[in-house]
Amino acid sequence: MLERRQFGHTGLDVSIVGLGAGQIGESDVTEAEAAEVLNGALDLGVTLIDTAASYGLSEERIGRHLGARRDEFVLSTKGGPKINGQRDWSPDSVLASIERSLRLTRSERIDIFYLHSCPIGILRRGDLQETLDQAVTAGKIGVAGYSGDNEHLAFAADSGRFGSIETSVNIADQWNLRNVLGRRPELGVIAKRPIANAPWRFVERPAGNYAELYWERLQILDFDPGELDWAEFALRFTAYAPGVHTAIVGTAKLSHLRHNITAATQGPLPDQILEDIDRAWRAVGSDWPAST
Ligand SMILES: NC(=O)c1ccc[n+]([C@@H]2O[C@H](COP(=O)([O-])OP(=O)(O)OC[C@H]3O[C@@H](n4cnc5c(N)ncnc54)[C@H](OP(=O)(O)O)[C@@H]3O)[C@@H](O)[C@H]2O)c1
Repeated sequence: MLERRQFGHTGLDVSIVGLGAGQIGESDVTEAEAAEVLNGALDLGVTLIDTAASYGLSEERIGRHLGARRDEFVLSTKGGPKINGQRDWSPDSVLASIERSLRLTRSERIDIFYLHSCPIGILRRGDLQETLDQAVTAGKIGVAGYSGDNEHLAFAADSGRFGSIETSVNIADQWNLRNVLGRRPELGVIAKRPIANAPWRFVERPAGNYAELYWERLQILDFDPGELDWAEFALRFTAYAPGVHTAIVGTAKLSHLRHNITAATQGPLPDQILEDIDRAWRAVGSDWPAST
């Protein structure tokens, strides 16, 4: 059975591998493929699914294919600004985003709602935190969360106004891990981009691809996964990183999810490998900011 962990002090518990539902929001993923990976995830013991208002068809597909299984998983979603591309960090916009997510995911309550990459300047106002508190009181959301990176994340984590954070943590992205995670044990922590967007798929630099920065960093870090395949090497690092409760690997493929779950159940990477990763990071990566 897939291991579960207490999610900070939220009262929730989550599987150590969650499903990142960004990919199933793409229009070139069929309804059948989305249904297969969503239902397959729950059947394999995944109990956390992460989506966002901005992930295309993702929220409505979760509602359509898992509406009848809604009590089997923790749903996290993200929003805040209008989803038409206009940034509008007003309380009304956040409330509208919550209502939309409730409707599309066919939920009576969003278990965790994250302000999605909200900049520190907006966070300092404090009004959106009050909006989230009101949504918790009204029973529309369970936990108020912040999703972001670097100084924005540090401010949110230290503010004491959030119950959970979602942030980039992987072998090629360790700023948040080393500078923020662990400071607040009460926070439930989701590691996003946990296998660094699988950059080893590309022999040549994937110019313009989401994975390009991590591809470049892996060239410099020069890790050796040894006998492990790259996905296992990367995921075992993230899923057992101190302070991480769940690693939400994004995929629209059930075969990949199955592989990732098998990999994560092998446990933490051996100490020697972790020491090698640490040495390489301190040698070349300590100034690298987190990627958003
Ligand atoms: N809050 C935010 O701003 C934010 C930003 C980024 C991501 N996220 C969340 O985090 C989730 C994960 O992040 P991510 O998708 O960017 O990065 P990721 O999980 O590190 O990597 C996902 C990529 O790896 C591939 N993959 C998955 N398992 C694989 C395997 N076993 N072997 C080879 N390739 C594999 C996937 O393609 P296939 O579909 O082919 O498997 C996909 O292209 C997202 O779905 C989303 O929920 C949040």
